[in-house]
Amino acid sequence: MGQGFGKAYEPEEGVNTAGNPSIHEVDGERRHVLRCTTAAVALLMGSHTLTAHAVAAVKGKPLGFTGVPVSSADALVVPPEYEAQVLYRWGDATGIAGAGAPAFSADASNSWQEQLLQSGMHHDGMEYFPLDKNPRHGLLAINHEYTDDGLLHSDGMKTWTVEKVRKSQAAHGVSVIEVVERGGVWRVMPNSRYARRITGNTPMQFSGPATGHALLKTAADPEGMRPLGTLNNCAAGQTPWGTFLTCEENWNGYFATQEKPNPDEARYGMRAKGFGYRWHEFDERFDAVKNPNEPHRFGWVVEIDPQDPTQTPIKRTALGRIKHEGATTTLSRDGRAVVYMGDDERFEYVYKFVSRDKVKPGGYKANKELLDHGTLYVARFDAQGYGRWLPLVHGEGSLTATGGFASQAEVLIKCRQAADAVGATKMDRPEWVAVHPNTGEVFLTLTNNSARGQGSDPARMADASNPRNDNIMGHIIRWREGKGQGSAGRSPDGDASATEFRWMHFALAGDPNAGKAEYRGSIKGDMYGSPDGLQFDAGGMLWIQTDVSTSAMHKGAYSGMGNNMMLCADPATGETKRFLTGPAGCEITGVTFTPDRRAVFINIQHPGETSSERGDPANPKAVSHWPDGPTGGRPRSATVVIRRKDGGTVGT
Ligand code: FEO
Ligand code: CA
Ligand code: CA
Repeated sequence: MGQGFGKAYEPEEGVNTAGNPSIHEVDGERRHVLRCTTAAVALLMGSHTLTAHAVAAVKGKPLGFTGVPVSSADALVVPPEYEAQVLYRWGDATGIAGAGAPAFSADASNSWQEQLLQSGMHHDGMEYFPLDKNPRHGLLAINHEYTDDGLLHSDGMKTWTVEKVRKSQAAHGVSVIEVVERGGVWRVMPNSRYARRITGNTPMQFSGPATGHALLKTAADPEGMRPLGTLNNCAAGQTPWGTFLTCEENWNGYFATQEKPNPDEARYGMRAKGFGYRWHEFDERFDAVKNPNEPHRFGWVVEIDPQDPTQTPIKRTALGRIKHEGATTTLSRDGRAVVYMGDDERFEYVYKFVSRDKVKPGGYKANKELLDHGTLYVARFDAQGYGRWLPLVHGEGSLTATGGFASQAEVLIKCRQAADAVGATKMDRPEWVAVHPNTGEVFLTLTNNSARGQGSDPARMADASNPRNDNIMGHIIRWREGKGQGSAGRSPDGDASATEFRWMHFALAGDPNAGKAEYRGSIKGDMYGSPDGLQFDAGGMLWIQTDVSTSAMHKGAYSGMGNNMMLCADPATGETKRFLTGPAGCEITGVTFTPDRRAVFINIQHPGETSSERGDPANPKAVSHWPDGPTGGRPRSATVVIRRKDGGTVGT
């Protein structure tokens, strides 16, 4: 064991080593938490999915694979003992039963109606749901975060039509596909009774405390109950009861509004022309001057039952309205659901939701209202490794009518303002959260924040938890829930419902050869920057994915870092090894395993992205021709499945 929790969470990180529990004590504690997380989740999942969480027999040593070097090649590079297979590219048929399977047109001339039956663009967070006793037959729920309209249409955005708006909306949302492996080869099942596409126009429902609130009512939905579509679905999560949580991140970019946005619009980053999607020109829903409440209908976590293609997706208002990066779910000691969520923007916050009720056996049917009742908290990271979860509950503290919050619904709809009011800690872009399957310890990526330290606002200066000004490299923080007594006594007990926690850094990212000391970081092993995707495998190894923006890649402090990558780290020792590097101009995101850990699925997002805003339709392969090669029409985001050539455990 590398570090016991008592030692790890001493107030003076790495300095004060007094009063550690003995290794035996820590072992006992680990075993206890194991019972509370992995095993409890398995029990709740029901019999067939027991396999999902039972740890498969593992042959080989964790981190035993051959690490790969940094790369600037236009290729996906995996260790020599592994093979990667492209499974589901933008434009590939989703396989919806009875709906047809239009082939992808390499010149991007598919109609919007065809796009509704094909993979969306820009794959992001993703979860695998086993279907039966065969661990290698299951469903993949895949987010399609956004579109590059320079590549989505044959002539890009040169002309602009209602059909192009519809195609862009159809290329957003989620895919559910059925996948199966035979003889080492995976395929997407055609005519699947599970397959579906959810888009920017799919009918949805609100549930939870904000449902029907005046701020959610529009002319098209006067009851404020039935929003349309989900957008900018970034990271995701899987619940212990078998549903997919998809998260609406930069939804503000789709709306046009007045030249000077009102304070609530400004707090969520809305601008006069949004991010230039131009949907409002043909779809008034996205004109916030005409439909000022429509933006309130985005920024939620959406629950989808992947097993039921007729289910109406539910926007869970109890989880707050932010720019949701992800929703990582675990269980408290007493069996309630705990959902960790980042709000990915500079100086935004980390949240968690603790359900009122316990998770029940019986899948989604038995847990349909679980995410509607509970307490939402936001994190305050204090000095010396202490932290506190601050409740966002109407009537408490300044969250009152005089403080600008007339009800719990308003606290949730104006969640960022509520978090401001309670004094949450401004973080360096909170991205993914991962919970250790055995210990319950929580890890969070803070991707970067070059604005840290600029200006004179003390809340924007480097602090204990965000320790570097001009933080272009990002970091990973870890915490353990519960009251920690430090050197005076026991370490925190790890109960996810706790209102206090003890934190420390896992790694400050960087290049040890960088000129400036603050860009060098503290990684033990292979270097990386801008960590984003984060996931544990069932064996407790931590997988880290990077999202260096195309404007920073290969330049300045990033000049030695190559393309975006995925690494694997041992949380006990910190040892980190690079597992893959992506093709030119992509980000690596989405990571999910089959229960037997013989395959890992990842997403290559936006291969070939240029440093300008959108691809050039006259020269779509300027940066990359991945994955179709030089004879293909344009680069395409894709889901890739990776396995050991000998069929062994991934990560060994
Ligand atoms: Fe969509 Fe925060 O990355
Ligand atoms: Ca992300
Ligand atoms: Ca990112």
